[in-house]
Amino acid sequence: MEHIKGKNAIITGASRGIGKALALKLAQNGVNVLLAARNQTTLDATVKEIKEKAGDTVKVLGLSADVGKLEDLQKLSELALKEFSAIDILINNAGVSSQYPFEKQPLEDIENLVHTNYLGYVRLIRLVIPHMIERKQGAIINMVSGSTLVDPVPRTFVTYSSLKVGLRAFLKGLFWEMRDHGIKITSILPGVVDTDLTDKLENITQEQKDRLMSADAVVDMVMFALSVPQNTCPLELAVINQQTPWTKPIIDYQQKQAK
Ligand SMILES: NC(=O)c1ccc[n+]([C@@H]2O[C@H](COP(=O)([O-])OP(=O)(O)OC[C@H]3O[C@@H](n4cnc5c(N)ncnc54)[C@H](OP(=O)(O)O)[C@@H]3O)[C@@H](O)[C@H]2O)c1
Repeated sequence: MEHIKGKNAIITGASRGIGKALALKLAQNGVNVLLAARNQTTLDATVKEIKEKAGDTVKVLGLSADVGKLEDLQKLSELALKEFSAIDILINNAGVSSQYPFEKQPLEDIENLVHTNYLGYVRLIRLVIPHMIERKQGAIINMVSGSTLVDPVPRTFVTYSSLKVGLRAFLKGLFWEMRDHGIKITSILPGVVDTDLTDKLENITQEQKDRLMSADAVVDMVMFALSVPQNTCPLELAVINQQTPWTKPIIDYQQKQAK
């Protein structure tokens, strides 16, 4: 992984789950990392853990930031430029999930999904991309979702999944705009990963949980995306659960209610 040594990365949603696993892997491979998440205590604990595991040769920083707030995203990109002087890698990963029949979904929940899972990604890219264009290089890797491969999007996940579909479409379009500037845009489409996010699916059985993929499978995809030659770009990478009776990335809402 010599090719990424000494590079600088912003990773959102990096205090837990996929983002944390990514931050650790990058830091262990010599990448300076700036981690963002809302909860200061969890973030501090993660930064400390990664510092201990990655050693003194890399910078490991944390900023408590809500990706749903424009001013927090501005602070995040400014801090990265101040501390690292260049941003080589942006990993847009922070996300929330919720499961409702649409008529029961609280309006605030819809707004939160839009601000976190869609606007949070688009705005941070908009803030960072002029800098990348100036340097004629950069990799922007985005945690989308395997649920975008299901058409129509899964019941009770309509808001979550359709925003991810929109995000995927945005990123595909952006890829064409950015390729001439030397900037890579990649969408990662994970299946169901064993994290706090999927813990919320209450009626999942232990056997099903044991079959979920670990965050490491997603980390491997991101490391692959960062390893391809400069003149190629992995536009979309999907890794979907294998050998599970739970073939769709959803739990039936009625089933959940009945529990
Ligand atoms: N797990 C899956 O099965 C799965 C499948 C497909 C796609 N994904 C996507 O992968 C990404 C990561 O999911 P995960 O499973 O790792 O989730 P997770 O374990 O719940 O972790 C989410 C991370 O994002 C942070 N976060 C949440 N809202 C935020 C906000 N508004 N601003 C800043 N940080 C925020 C959380 O910290 P705070 O709460 O402290 O902010 C945490 O660090 C998400 O975009 C998700 O949609 C996950």
